[in-house]
Amino acid sequence: MKITWWGHAAIQLEGSKIVIIDPFLTGNPVAAISPDKIIQADVVIVTHDHGDHLGDAFTICQKTGATLVAIHEIAVMAQEKGIEAEGMNIGGSVDVKGITVHMVNAIHSCEKGDPAGVVIQMDGRTLYHAGDTALTYDMKLIGEFFKPDLSFLPIGDRYTMGIPSAAKAVEFTQTKKVIPIHYGTFPLVEADPHEFKKQVGSRAEVIILKQGESYILE
Ligand code: NI
Ligand code: MN
Repeated sequence: MKITWWGHAAIQLEGSKIVIIDPFLTGNPVAAISPDKIIQADVVIVTHDHGDHLGDAFTICQKTGATLVAIHEIAVMAQEKGIEAEGMNIGGSVDVKGITVHMVNAIHSCEKGDPAGVVIQMDGRTLYHAGDTALTYDMKLIGEFFKPDLSFLPIGDRYTMGIPSAAKAVEFTQTKKVIPIHYGTFPLVEADPHEFKKQVGSRAEVIILKQGESYILE
């Protein structure tokens, strides 16, 4: 599976299908791709409706025919625009195009619905995208129940976990690999991923990507 970080919380997974999570590209000063360059996607997942997560999701779905997966209230907004959308809620799971998306708790705010994280099962791999969240004991449950092979955790502080909390989240989620996200986009979310790596220590492999870089998950 090829994993690409487009910057901020935007992640693309390419395996048997192409899945894009939180595609905030327009207006993202560090976005490594413009939304017109995204010509293929099967599933677009949105963790919550803040602009830096909902981003270009609707446009990408309209252009590529991808199915949107999001909490009920965001899915309804998408359906009103004629987008094929699978609404769900925290605690539930949805099978779409051979991919299973479990919606999990996130401690954050939003306009419509509730903020969420997602656990994605695809091609025999389990990946956790935390969305925007504080550190929470719920992450222990994600660890016990899902045992993620790889997690995307915010480290930018202020609006989400900072480095010490995110390092603790690595322990709670029992994740084997972690890619830090939600930093380096704006001055308010500056963080040093190498400091994160240091604090995680031997608990997990920390994969530091530059915006636009990919990692192959074997
Ligand atoms: Ni947010
Ligand atoms: Mn955010």
